[in-house]
Amino acid sequence: MRVLITGGVGFIGQHVARQMAAEHTLVALDLLLPQVHLKPEVSRRAFPGTVVVGDVSDPLVWASLDRPDVLIHLAAETGTGQSMYERNRYHRVNVDGTSLAGETARTWGVPLIAMSSRAVYGHGRSECPTHGTRFGGTCCDRAAPASSTEDDPHIPVSFYGETKSEAEAVLAEDAKTVPVTIIRPQNVVGPGQALHNPYTGVLAALLARLREGRSLVLYGDGSATRDFLHVEDLVALISWCVTHPPRIGTIRILNAGTGVRTSLDELADAAAAGSPLSGVPVEHRPVHRAGDIEHACADLSRLRAFGAPNPRWSSRDAIVDFIRRSWEEPGAPSEAWDDALTELDERGLTS
Ligand SMILES: NC(=O)c1ccc[n+]([C@@H]2O[C@H](COP(=O)([O-])OP(=O)(O)OC[C@H]3O[C@@H](n4cnc5c(N)ncnc54)[C@H](O)[C@@H]3O)[C@@H](O)[C@H]2O)c1
Ligand SMILES: [Zn+2]
Repeated sequence: MRVLITGGVGFIGQHVARQMAAEHTLVALDLLLPQVHLKPEVSRRAFPGTVVVGDVSDPLVWASLDRPDVLIHLAAETGTGQSMYERNRYHRVNVDGTSLAGETARTWGVPLIAMSSRAVYGHGRSECPTHGTRFGGTCCDRAAPASSTEDDPHIPVSFYGETKSEAEAVLAEDAKTVPVTIIRPQNVVGPGQALHNPYTGVLAALLARLREGRSLVLYGDGSATRDFLHVEDLVALISWCVTHPPRIGTIRILNAGTGVRTSLDELADAAAAGSPLSGVPVEHRPVHRAGDIEHACADLSRLRAFGAPNPRWSSRDAIVDFIRRSWEEPGAPSEAWDDALTELDERGLTS
């Protein structure tokens, strides 16, 4: 089978490609963004197939490609904070790029699997014994965070989340003609994730601080929660989606996560456990960045009902694995993340 992977040279794309390379002919369409790829040529050579360097938001690039048997669309601008001040670029790549991916899949008549994000849920769902279910924020301090199901409303709080939501809506139209699967991953972790991109990845930031012997900095009191999914589990899900396309006429949307919450304090603890250090101090800073959310966790009922593979890694093990396997990899110094925060600060995007 010929598989076209947009953003194939990136973190998730390289893992998908390595898993599929033995059986399939792979082509990546990737712009080799300098923000993601410190050494674009090294990234490009690591891809086990042909790399077409081009922009997913350029119709001429799509017109120059040969028809694959399946299209996996991963290319995106992914910085939540950065999306708040680079709106045009984020909209062009994430919405227009996805629209072209859908349009081209339709022209080719091939199934499309596209990456959305849990960011579409924003603050997500909460349950309160007094006020019931609520979306997009809590009602009172009796409310507890609950997992997001695929039918929950989209209430994104970052422009990145808005672009993902809009991109999903665009694909609904294409799903009338070709099989379309949309995956909404929670935080994906694993070796190979960008260690130079200070606009994404709390884990890369923690890794940088650990390696420099600095304290681990968490924004907030450490009680915020996330759902960290090992990249291998996401790859297993994507592979399953390739062999299990939905019926034409029904768009299939699937959450991807572990379904279990991990607090930021637990995250810091797991990160330190993956390092050779002991007694690593953790610092809580009362900083809120625009686009940040308090709680996130995936509800996996639908994924299980479809018989899609269950995640095998716990969040803790995934975090430990990431730190261990990235320890010797080159990455940006921790000041790069401090600078990214300053940049948000200067634009009035922190409080
Ligand atoms: N990593 C996560 O935690 C996570 C969570 C939820 C959703 N996602 C989604 O998964 C997808 C892949 O993310 P990733 O973590 O591998 O990110 P990544 O930044 O490592 O990879 C993205 C790739 O897309 C390429 N790209 C960016 N703009 C492009 C353009 N205009 N044209 C062509 N290529 C372009 C980049 O060069 C890069 O190689 C994205 O859609 C992202 O939004 C990721
Ligand atoms: Zn309440």
